[in-house]
Amino acid sequence: MRALVPAMLLALAGCDSPPPPAPPPTPSTLATGENVYRQTCHACHGSGIAGAPRLGNQEQWRDRVRQGHEQLYQHAINGYTGRFGTMPARGGKPDLSDERVKAAVDYMLSKL
Ligand code: HEC
Repeated sequence: MRALVPAMLLALAGCDSPPPPAPPPTPSTLATGENVYRQTCHACHGSGIAGAPRLGNQEQWRDRVRQGHEQLYQHAINGYTGRFGTMPARGGKPDLSDERVKAAVDYMLSKL
């Protein structure tokens, strides 16, 4: 029984640390996304060049958003050819991380 006491104290001490907070979509993520967007995505998505859906154009984004965010992320990261044209993988910048491409997608969706 004696040996159990220190173990129980240790277990109780562990309860003091608060659970880690879930990461919310912070303004800094959107700021990152805006930077990536301006540097890489705006060339096509700003004016709808090459068949790209324009930033903030709800009409052009409605059916795309229905696919769900995960599909949009995957198309942005891996690229694809759709009805309107070809979306190059990572907007043609292979050195962009998945996180940065996703942040740019989040930024674009925040403008709808
Ligand atoms: C060279 C032009 C070009 C660049 C640069 C570009 N895109 Fe695109 N993007 C397209 C075109 C064209 C489509 C539409 C293809 C279709 O559906 O026919 C598209 C579609 C998309 C879609 C919709 C996917 C879907 O499933 O409907 C997302 C999201 C997207 N782009 C994100 C991005 C992001 C993020 C960047 C910057 C990192 C970027 N694009 C840069 C041309 C571009």
